[in-house]
Amino acid sequence: MTINTTVKEAGFLPASRIASIGVSEILKIGARANAMKRDGKPVIILGAGEPDFDTPDHVKQAAWQAIQRGETKYTALDGTPELKKAIREKFQRENGLVYEMDEITVATGAKQILFNAMMASINPGDEVIIPTPYWTSYSDIVQICAGKPVLIACDASSGFRLTADKLEAAITPKTRWVFLNSPSNPSGAAYSAADYRPLLDALLKYPHVWLLVDDMYEHIVYDGFRFVTPAQLEPRLKERTLTVNGVSKAYAMTGWRIGYAGGPRELIKAMAVVQSQATSCPSSVSQATSCPSSVSQAASVAALTGPQDFLKERTASFQRRRDLVVSGLNAIDRLDCRVPEGAFYTFSGCAGMLGKVTPSGKMIETDADFCAYLLDDAHVAVVPGSAFGLSPFFRISYATSEAELTEALERIAAACARLS
Ligand SMILES: Cc1ncc(COP(=O)(O)O)c(C=O)c1O
Repeated sequence: MTINTTVKEAGFLPASRIASIGVSEILKIGARANAMKRDGKPVIILGAGEPDFDTPDHVKQAAWQAIQRGETKYTALDGTPELKKAIREKFQRENGLVYEMDEITVATGAKQILFNAMMASINPGDEVIIPTPYWTSYSDIVQICAGKPVLIACDASSGFRLTADKLEAAITPKTRWVFLNSPSNPSGAAYSAADYRPLLDALLKYPHVWLLVDDMYEHIVYDGFRFVTPAQLEPRLKERTLTVNGVSKAYAMTGWRIGYAGGPRELIKAMAVVQSQATSCPSSVSQATSCPSSVSQAASVAALTGPQDFLKERTASFQRRRDLVVSGLNAIDRLDCRVPEGAFYTFSGCAGMLGKVTPSGKMIETDADFCAYLLDDAHVAVVPGSAFGLSPFFRISYATSEAELTEALERIAAACARLS
């Protein structure tokens, strides 16, 4: 038997590191909703995790000027000095955190920051504590890096927040990291200084455990909520905390693919080793090395150092939409929506819908069934809690127009009323 025949007969076998990772539920629902739209169905998609605002003009201008200056070549491995300086100033100005330039890293989105951090630090079987509901990528990235996600259910009774007793119960000698995300995707829950304190006190007792905080939605907080970040609150943890952030959500720059982090220099150095063999440097609209990386970085400098007033206006607009969605959902019998402190998502309980029967005679057994029903019957695409590790819930992204949200809520209410 020739080698070629063997390969042909065997077919493609995925590596074991991705064997348990499927295509994300969010992408599957999005693909189905888009296919329905192409078939002429009036589908409203409330699944996207990106602001509906445009990238601010002064940011676009900065990108254009960078192109005209000829800044279209590879850049320094983990960020241009100009961008690292802007990030350094941002951390100091907004978070009271002082990082040196070699304690800052820039990557192709916060997603790659997480990936670099896990690749650089996890050995097979190392445990990573992830409170649920969690942003879907956390657990997949940990698994790709051969780590073991340890999921802790944090339901609505604790405001979808991790508590110190649950955290301590989950820590073992193999725990490498704890992930915290505030405000959270998908729950919108945020940790105040008082919410963080018991967790940080607990972590002080376990010096082998590192803390990864994802502050991606820092600027999108409501009702005067005071955003804080753990390394600022507890300086004794700074030497084992990676503070992750990015321009995607606050500055409506999801396609520019720039994320950053501040952390201990040895970790930052190891993350640069991973990045050097993955993308060479932070890039633009794709993960290819040939992208005009410097352009996205120049734009991000403008985002972080330019006017910040528009953030308040945009957040006020998100808050109006949050109020519209929360009150609309809570007006529907058997749905239960907690008021989120930030981000642009609601995460509603749908336990009251389980056991109900659709007009076509199908029993709703899970939150995924409920979401499938809303898509089929109401033509509204939302994402089941199962995609975020906590059921029975569903996530709505309200980063869309008030008119569309109003229409979607009316359709959801009518579809729920048709259940028996
Ligand atoms: C909580 C959270 N962290 C990180 C990211 C990734 O952001 P980026 O676009 O910078 O990769 C997302 C994107 O949805 C997110 O929701």
